[in-house]
Amino acid sequence: MNVNPNFEKLPGSYLFAEIARRVKEFQAADPAADILKLGIGDVTRPLAPAVVDAMKRAADEMLSAGTMRGYGPDFGYDFLVNAIIAHDYTARGVELEFDEVFISDGAKTDSSAIQELFSSDAKIAVTDPVYPVYVDSNAMAGRLGEYKDGRWTNLTYLPCNAENNFVPEPPRGHVDVIYLCYPNNPTGTTLTKEQLKPFVDYAHREGAVIVYDAAYKAFIRSDVPRSIYEIDGAKDVAIECNSFSKTAGFTGMRCAYSVLPHAVKGRGGNGRPMELNAMWKRRMGTRFNGVSFPVQRAAAAVFTPEGWAQCMEAVEYYLRNATMIRSELLAMGYTVFGGIDAPYVWLKTPTADSWAFFDELLRKAHVVGTPGAGFGPSGEGYLRLTAFNTNEKTREALQRIKEL
Ligand code: MLT
Repeated sequence: MNVNPNFEKLPGSYLFAEIARRVKEFQAADPAADILKLGIGDVTRPLAPAVVDAMKRAADEMLSAGTMRGYGPDFGYDFLVNAIIAHDYTARGVELEFDEVFISDGAKTDSSAIQELFSSDAKIAVTDPVYPVYVDSNAMAGRLGEYKDGRWTNLTYLPCNAENNFVPEPPRGHVDVIYLCYPNNPTGTTLTKEQLKPFVDYAHREGAVIVYDAAYKAFIRSDVPRSIYEIDGAKDVAIECNSFSKTAGFTGMRCAYSVLPHAVKGRGGNGRPMELNAMWKRRMGTRFNGVSFPVQRAAAAVFTPEGWAQCMEAVEYYLRNATMIRSELLAMGYTVFGGIDAPYVWLKTPTADSWAFFDELLRKAHVVGTPGAGFGPSGEGYLRLTAFNTNEKTREALQRIKEL
């Protein structure tokens, strides 16, 4: 059996696995070290009581033959899909049809799998730095060429850095797919409607598709769009991935949803228009048996007034951490971005090598961040800190950085 040769081209391991490895190695060498983790964006606040109540009630239903559920609908239970459409879209002036929403177990799952719908020679563009999942999944599918000097030869990078104020420009030449994530992981920055519009116009002009990751939209407090569909014309060219992970602390629960409007089409044989929605249904039907009933009930409870208020308490808690990280780092003299409408703060590292700064932070302050270089070439010289730890530990981490 010959293996997929594209795996041999991948550099190292998955970013967060590499960080976990380094932290584990350090902890083994110094078991007494009290390591503070501001690396991977994993939540620390407990689930909302309304969410847990709904999950318990659903678990009780599984106890009797009359109410237990076996396989659920392939694309999600009606009660959850309807709640998502009403709360996240209709309320914001975006009309969606019921079968344009798909429930899954994660935005990572969906944003890595969506590339199965694209031809093997589809040209891909990503903002740089970028959530590595979009890149690695396309690399595994063999679309990105070779990895040389920290770059994929067949990938279009759209740089986002201090020089362009983290506002990317649409690609100069033709690409078929553009991945965008706003509020951005890793930089924590956002784009306005006016800044997103050129991407929608580009997609119309070039017959391209936008994969928009809105996993962090619950953190938006400024006047920036929470959905790509708030931009005129986006429903013809954009797919949107969403998640309960950060909105409702579901990283350990697993529930997410993607939107594939019927109007978004690619080209089949002889240029025949193909609905990505129909293709995704075909794919999901084959590959997925749905998210468990209790977890979907728990997710639907997020959209009740009580559930929403409780979830937003946790989001506000993380936002307060983000504000603290930003202001403390600024006071220490760091150059800092993001952290206003997002749980990530992006800082310029004092040394040019972000892995070296990561190691120094770990070794001397016992604080874990995420080195910018792990997110792509334009991430070099930056480090990401998450606001997802507890307030106390975040404060302590900042104190240690100050003393460094
Ligand atoms: C991150 O730290 O970038 C995220 O937690 C990763 C993820 O959501 O998969």
